[in-house]
Amino acid sequence: MRENQSKVDGRRRWLLRVAVALAPLALAIGLVSCATGSKLTLVVPPDIPGAHFVGSETCAMCHENITRDFKTASHSRIMAQGTNAINMGCESCHGPGSLHADSAGDRKTGANFGPGRPHVMSGSQRQTIINPRRSSEHCYGCHLDKRGQFALPYHHPVPEGRMSCGDCHNPHKGPATRGGAAQMASENEVCAKCHTVQRGPFVFEHEATREGCTTCHSPHGSVNAMMLTARDASLCVKCHFQQPTGAGRLAIGGIDHTSFLSRGTCWSAGCHEAVHGSQVSTSLRF
Ligand code: HEC
Ligand code: HEC
Ligand code: HEC
Ligand code: HEC
Ligand code: HEC
Ligand code: HEC
Ligand code: HEC
Repeated sequence: MRENQSKVDGRRRWLLRVAVALAPLALAIGLVSCATGSKLTLVVPPDIPGAHFVGSETCAMCHENITRDFKTASHSRIMAQGTNAINMGCESCHGPGSLHADSAGDRKTGANFGPGRPHVMSGSQRQTIINPRRSSEHCYGCHLDKRGQFALPYHHPVPEGRMSCGDCHNPHKGPATRGGAAQMASENEVCAKCHTVQRGPFVFEHEATREGCTTCHSPHGSVNAMMLTARDASLCVKCHFQQPTGAGRLAIGGIDHTSFLSRGTCWSAGCHEAVHGSQVSTSLRF
């Protein structure tokens, strides 16, 4: 725990040092420093032509509740203090806020947007402030690896604009990732907002779902259909041991599976099709 904390502190110090060292440069040519995991990357912050960074204090004047809650948010830990790091905090995701603040929260402006920078316009709107709900570009700025995950053949339709990172993550309050060892129930709740069928309740539950939907699904994207973490029996045998019963035969759950395993996946029709749980079959057949 302590080691972890000092790692975080170390990371934060490094981040601050880089932020301080680069601040004049950052303000001049628009670089913001940020860390992803243990890597530190420099990214281009969201751009709003004609606007400059004003700092989270300014946002607090009108967005009191969000600013108060933000103290508990994962991302507040990367909120650096002082004027040198003014572009961290709220504006690391929402872009420089001067036009928005000066126009008393007006969302639109007459200013024109330059091409090629991560910003959004919905329809003919010209935004004074960025709302990441409309584009994940601002999140990718620091979470580069996520762009790759959402580019995999099977993914949640975030790049298509049918969903946003904010559907599953809390940017403003508490842990950004709901779930984790202590909070699997709440992780499943996130999924169940949209996928009610898979949550049940079932007469015959599959206990695997208690370990969390992400035991079997990669929530961002995967090379496997249905965003599965594995495409074949290995998805199941990590929990259901294969017992060699001699002469090259294998049993799973005490039943000889030698010939079954060559017929298709464990969840093929006729086998354990009701993989999330069943109303009728103890063996999750349908
Ligand atoms: C980690 C990125 C991030 C940071 C940092 C952040 N926000 Fe947000 N903000 C978002 C996202 C994402 C949304 C869209 C939420 C959604 O999809 O429902 C949003 C939406 C908003 C909205 C629109 C109303 C709403 O709730 O949807 C306001 C106002 C806002 N943020 C203010 C702030 C303020 C003030 C701060 C600093 C205290 C802040 N944000 C920091 C990501 C961020
Ligand atoms: C003078 C008051 C004021 C200040 C200062 C202010 N806002 Fe706002 N903000 C508003 C109001 C009012 C709205 C709602 C506008 C609307 O719905 O048309 C709003 C809306 C927003 C939205 C949603 C925009 C959208 O298109 O959905 C975001 C994001 C946001 N503010 C972020 C910020 C951030 C970040 C700061 C600090 C840099 C900030 N605001 C400072 C008054 C303010
Ligand atoms: C300015 C850089 C920056 C931006 C922009 C940013 N993040 Fe982060 N994010 C971070 C850093 C740094 C961490 C690691 C925090 C830590 O471990 O202390 C993080 C952590 C996370 C986590 C994991 C938190 C946890 O509880 O472990 C999630 C989820 C996340 N970000 C989602 C988002 C989303 C969604 C957006 C866009 C709305 C976004 N981030 C925008 C820098 C950023
Ligand atoms: C369908 C829900 C969902 C969507 C949409 C989603 N995430 Fe996640 N994300 C999760 C879950 C669940 C976890 C926890 C991962 C786990 O338990 O394996 C996670 C973990 C993370 C983490 C921390 C762990 C890691 O993999 O680095 C980051 C950062 C993150 N997401 C960023 C994003 C960003 C950025 C977007 C949008 C581009 C996004 N997520 C969209 C569900 C989602
Ligand atoms: C905001 C709604 C929403 C949330 C929350 C959500 N999903 Fe989804 N999910 C979708 C949409 C939309 C699709 C795409 C369906 C389509 O393309 O027809 C999808 C597709 C899927 C698929 C593939 C299904 C198919 O038919 O291809 C799986 C598996 C899945 N989600 C699992 C999850 C898991 C696990 C979580 C929680 C970490 C989650 N979802 C959270 C909306 C959501
Ligand atoms: C034990 C592994 C496992 C767990 C845990 C799991 N799934 Fe699945 N899920 C699968 C498999 C396997 C499929 C593919 C079924 C098929 O192809 O017919 C699937 C398919 C899906 C689909 C596509 C529609 C369907 O039912 O075929 C959705 C949506 C989905 N899962 C959501 C969830 C959600 C939400 C959770 C958590 C409550 C979850 N899954 C937990 C293995 C799992
Ligand atoms: C995270 C661990 C885990 C994973 C992964 C997992 N299961 Fe399970 N499964 C369990 C547990 C725990 C039980 C209840 C105890 C038992 O019967 O072994 C169970 C029960 C079952 C049962 C009911 C056994 C009976 O007759 O009562 C079937 C069938 C089953 N799983 C099939 C599968 C299939 C198919 C997969 C792969 C798609 C899978 N499981 C993946 C943990 C898991």
